[in-house]
Amino acid sequence: MDSTSEAWLDLDLTDPAAFVDNDPHAYWRAVRARAPVHWRPGVGRRPGFWVVARHADVRTAYADNGSLISSRGTVLDVLLRGEDSAGGRMLAVTDRPRHPALRRVLGRAFSSRVLDEVARAVRARTDRLVAAVAHGAEFDFAAEVADRIPMNTICDLLSIPNGDRLALLRWNKAALSSDGPQVDPYGAVEARNEIVRYLTELARARRARPGDDVISAIATAEVQGRRLPLEDVALNCYSLVLGGDESSRVSAICAVKALAEHPGQWRALRDGEVGLDTAVEEVLRWATPAMHFARTAVRDVVIGGRQVRAGDVVTLWNTSANDDEAVFDEPRRFNLGRTPNRHLSLGHGAHFCLGAFLGRAELRALLGALRESVAEVELRGEPTPIHSTFLRGYSTLPASFTPRRSPQPTGAADSAV
Ligand code: HEM
Repeated sequence: MDSTSEAWLDLDLTDPAAFVDNDPHAYWRAVRARAPVHWRPGVGRRPGFWVVARHADVRTAYADNGSLISSRGTVLDVLLRGEDSAGGRMLAVTDRPRHPALRRVLGRAFSSRVLDEVARAVRARTDRLVAAVAHGAEFDFAAEVADRIPMNTICDLLSIPNGDRLALLRWNKAALSSDGPQVDPYGAVEARNEIVRYLTELARARRARPGDDVISAIATAEVQGRRLPLEDVALNCYSLVLGGDESSRVSAICAVKALAEHPGQWRALRDGEVGLDTAVEEVLRWATPAMHFARTAVRDVVIGGRQVRAGDVVTLWNTSANDDEAVFDEPRRFNLGRTPNRHLSLGHGAHFCLGAFLGRAELRALLGALRESVAEVELRGEPTPIHSTFLRGYSTLPASFTPRRSPQPTGAADSAV
């Protein structure tokens, strides 16, 4: 039986403030040591769920998509309230045999030509945005830089008109996380519906007159011998917005916060003593923007020596796995030269992040632009924590960047979002 009566286990993982008010690293260290796989009993009508904390068990569970499925939902909040309404239709919440068929179609839409072009645009945009704020005065890194990179990237991929991008960003923020302690689940559902409605109309137009973009590619492709219903095209484009916006934005904000807090690592990056590739991976590990992903067991399965029953919800804690001292030397040291770095921030197995190339390209562009234009990175106030049971990070970051050389005239930084 679990030691669930122990006070340290009382932290409510369904509370969006749990890891705003408590140190996740101390908490998960204790969980890994004392109850690395444990059952959280249900409360009232809310079902219970398993918590998996060690790197080895999280990785094995991600790989076991025969026993642990995604189509009921992959986020704890959703699973405790019922099922994901996009289950079986949107890539991330689809299982075999449809998942590999759908993933092939979406994967094809991400051709290397498209990705190379988008990555070039990311570098140019990021260079401009960073150069524009490297003036030595205080600014909000989230609003001025981080908010503008991922959404523009994903919008480039989908060819979303410039004038619509701001609305999409607002809906997406409302759909996923909350900047304040009051989470509004109804507002979140409404925002999600707005996005799907908007993308359905775009999919209808692109199916009629296809262009050279990812929406057109998905709208005209066949999955298991049939074209997708328009709403499914929209849901799958939405999965790119969902996956592509918040996690990249939160990682970028975390990167700057961590660099300001670790001046030795900042200097190593700036002076070229560490490479961009290892630095990107360490930022991903350090940020771990998606704290967990969840699965539902469809048959009895043993995880980390515990018997999980068919029907049970299982949560896989990336935050804990990425801190596991069995895998990472000195896990609480921010080390941009860390190698190997087997973090699970991008997942593992069949559902491994489809946008990993772009997520990495965005961070690489940011670190490269900082190295190029900035001499010193400083924090100028308290960042605003995101209240969410899923995402961890900040939605504002007051900072200042001392320019590396005299500021150059940069022109308009970016007008789209
Ligand atoms: C899947 C993280 C960027 C699109 C995932 C998963 C993780 C993740 C952990 C696995 C979910 C699971 O196993 O249930 C991240 C992080 C990113 C990032 C940390 C940025 C730093 C992106 C970008 C895109 C994207 C830029 C789109 C362009 C997706 C999609 C899936 C996914 C579509 C579902 C894949 C599937 O189910 O087969 N992501 N992601 N992600 N990600 Fe990302």
